[in-house]
Amino acid sequence: MNSPITAVLLGAGRRGFHVYGNYALKEKKKLKFIAVAEPIKARREKFANLHRIPSNRCYESWEDLLSQDKLANIAFICTQDQMHTEPTLLALEKGYHVLLEKPMAQTLENCIKIVKKVEETGRILGVGHVLRYTSFFSTIYKIIQKGLLGDIVNISHRENVMWYHYAHSFIRGPWSNVEKSSPMILAKCCHDLDLLFHMTGSLPKKISSFGNLYHFKPENAPKGAPEYCLDGCPAKAKCLYYAPRIYIDIIPQIQFMEKSDNKFLKILGKLRKNHVNFLTYLSKLVPLLKELRYYKDFPIYYLYTGQKEDYSDEAKARILKKSPYGRCVYHCDNDVVDHQIVNIEFENGVTANLTMHGFSEREGRTLRIDGTKATLIGEFHISGEKIIFYDHFSGKETLIYAKKLTRESGEHGVGDFELVDDYIESLISKEKTQPLTNAQETVESHLMAFAANESRLKGIVVDMNKFRKKVYKLG
Ligand SMILES: NC(=O)c1ccc[n+]([C@@H]2O[C@H](COP(=O)([O-])OP(=O)(O)OC[C@H]3O[C@@H](n4cnc5c(N)ncnc54)[C@H](O)[C@@H]3O)[C@@H](O)[C@H]2O)c1
Repeated sequence: MNSPITAVLLGAGRRGFHVYGNYALKEKKKLKFIAVAEPIKARREKFANLHRIPSNRCYESWEDLLSQDKLANIAFICTQDQMHTEPTLLALEKGYHVLLEKPMAQTLENCIKIVKKVEETGRILGVGHVLRYTSFFSTIYKIIQKGLLGDIVNISHRENVMWYHYAHSFIRGPWSNVEKSSPMILAKCCHDLDLLFHMTGSLPKKISSFGNLYHFKPENAPKGAPEYCLDGCPAKAKCLYYAPRIYIDIIPQIQFMEKSDNKFLKILGKLRKNHVNFLTYLSKLVPLLKELRYYKDFPIYYLYTGQKEDYSDEAKARILKKSPYGRCVYHCDNDVVDHQIVNIEFENGVTANLTMHGFSEREGRTLRIDGTKATLIGEFHISGEKIIFYDHFSGKETLIYAKKLTRESGEHGVGDFELVDDYIESLISKEKTQPLTNAQETVESHLMAFAANESRLKGIVVDMNKFRKKVYKLG
């Protein structure tokens, strides 16, 4: 490649700025951002500085950017879910290839509109289903492809959402209300349904699903709990979800460090928990400790929507008094499920089930694949990953893959960068014409999610052939 492929970024948030932006900074010969659209001034300017984007190529919204003639080869669409369809359709019409964050869109109609527009314009669209690209899932895929499991018969897959992550995203955050966002099975599990489709190598034939909102309802609120935790909640000492516990004291991160088998992390966890004033002092001397004292990563990052990025306890408390993230988890406008199961029979006879819930002690996926020759059991957690292979004939058990916690683990590890590599390859290579997560391939997981939602709500088994025919008329 002589010169890098050019791109515009729509939405310089966590994914746009930190994942795709970092890719371009690392792979300067492959990708160059030449314009950005982002309403938050500080983010826009910071991104522009890092990527040397001139001020006349910085826009306050995707509408402004896309009202210009085509500026680059690729549009990275990294706005929030409800802002995927319109910019994608317009970018495709303008002649951009598109890398779109997941989920493609929040309604079936819009997903189909996007697929049809891709077909009509002949542009290449990739979707941010990064899990397919992780070493963990690509190792499993290779094992399946080599036939080491024999024929796959059944897959049991779990998406264990850690309790505070569920509260942050699906009660207090943007994915809490179906009307305002989408069913949780789409928002959280389009990745997982995509993996089941990818691993079985077959279209789904029938889907059934059950699930409900079990716990996060007003009747389960502690007595006297106000709407905002910091308005004098009487249960503050005992409530798992008391907002300052999560966003100021960073208890989930401390627990994570304390449980780690890395001694250094354990000590740091204790320091943050029990000697915060001493840590404050030390952090003035050791910059790395500042990261721990004034932790900015998930979920703290989302408290800041344009205000000065002051990560002191006092500033966070001021934000929590008004922010949606400061609300009592029992007094929100959430209506998405907090647990759901999906049963799938595929065309090739394989059965699979997916369990998703928001009550996990740690974040991650676990799965078990039973084949005619062997069984595979996998754990994919932020704290580490492993795959064990059990050969039925010899009875031998082999640890075939293991990975410990890395600094990148929380961001899907190398999966993110490999997704972009694969996408760029599909644009420049003569042989490879589509990315692995192209529009047509990806939309199937979204159909599965909507079918599961329909089954759950109507109490029916969805015939996927009929469902597919019906929805393709929609877009
Ligand atoms: N692939 C994955 O694994 C993965 C993981 C997390 C999130 N996501 C998805 O990525 C997308 C972005 O998520 P995020 O966590 O980066 O969110 P974010 O809120 O950090 O980023 C979205 C950005 O869009 C900006 N924005 C708002 N209105 C805009 C407009 N009119 N024009 C341009 N920009 C505008 C916001 O200011 C914000 O900076 C979401 O769809 C989310 O579901 C995917």
